[in-house]
Amino acid sequence: MVKATDDISFSVEKGEVFVLAGESGSGKSTIAKLILKSIEADSGKIIFDGQEIQNDQKSLEKIRMNCQMIHQDPYDSINPRMKIADIVSEPLEIHKIGNNEMRKKRVIEVLQEVKLEPAEDIMKKYPHMLSGGQRQRVVLARALSIKPKIILADEPVSMLDVSIRAEMLELMHELQKKYEISFIYITHDLATARYFGQRIGILYLGKIVEMGLIDDVLLKPRHPYTQALIDAISEPDPENLNRIKKIRIKDSDGTIDEGCKFQPRCPYVMDKCKVEPDLKTIDEKHSFACYVELD
Ligand SMILES: Nc1ncnc2c1ncn2[C@@H]1O[C@H](COP(=O)(O)OP(=O)(O)OP(=O)(O)O)[C@@H](O)[C@H]1O
Ligand SMILES: [Mg+2]
Repeated sequence: MVKATDDISFSVEKGEVFVLAGESGSGKSTIAKLILKSIEADSGKIIFDGQEIQNDQKSLEKIRMNCQMIHQDPYDSINPRMKIADIVSEPLEIHKIGNNEMRKKRVIEVLQEVKLEPAEDIMKKYPHMLSGGQRQRVVLARALSIKPKIILADEPVSMLDVSIRAEMLELMHELQKKYEISFIYITHDLATARYFGQRIGILYLGKIVEMGLIDDVLLKPRHPYTQALIDAISEPDPENLNRIKKIRIKDSDGTIDEGCKFQPRCPYVMDKCKVEPDLKTIDEKHSFACYVELD
């Protein structure tokens, strides 16, 4: 049995962007599926707006009305045989919002919001007639169409060319602020995380090993795994050559039966690590799961 995620707990405030970051296979997409109830957790709760989401139709409808998903690959959420107008208005139809005329108006409005103009022309096209960046804007428009309270974005820009990645992020950031949408932004890219997010949870093999405000976690990482992730992307600082003592994590696919999952790769591993460390809080908003006190 694979435990894709275990003992995960986090909350997202209204209008907040919470980043879930971690390498491939760390459980990011699994968490997204659990939130949307497209897979069932063995245990645990999803609480939305103070109420637990159960498995009855009414609860599922509530989470699906309020929480929209953006996938890495636009074709995961758009049907290539449908026109853009139908793709964007589909969530309105599914949730029986408005009549045909109102839906058409909303489609135009939302295509303009994502800067796909002239909207009247775009809506008549098929997905293959658009560029990759435009298709991902269609996915964003579709997600926004029913005015969700939360958007779950699973690597939304990682398939885009670097040159248009920044534009898409800027657009999401602008609309997120304008409509105070909460975002769960899933990524392996800490640079975009810092640009877009306010808080971050660092996942390692299905566990959150560090969590806190973005700047606290990325500028003062406390878990050796977070430090290694940051060292891997940061430029050497000429002002502070002592900082060259970079953390090198070992390349290991060794699995671990007990204790901290990072043991096989950790440069600080010790006996104690055979007992899994709890996520301990060091100040109000910053917590990490490690026995070592890094400075
Ligand atoms: N249906 C499944 N059956 C068995 N194992 C699964 C299944 N789905 C996911 N897993 C495993 O669970 C772990 C987490 O997978 P998940 O897709 O959530 O990772 P991820 O962080 O989204 O990775 P990526 O960055 O590659 O998208 C992986 O070890 C994966 O192989
Ligand atoms: Mg994934």
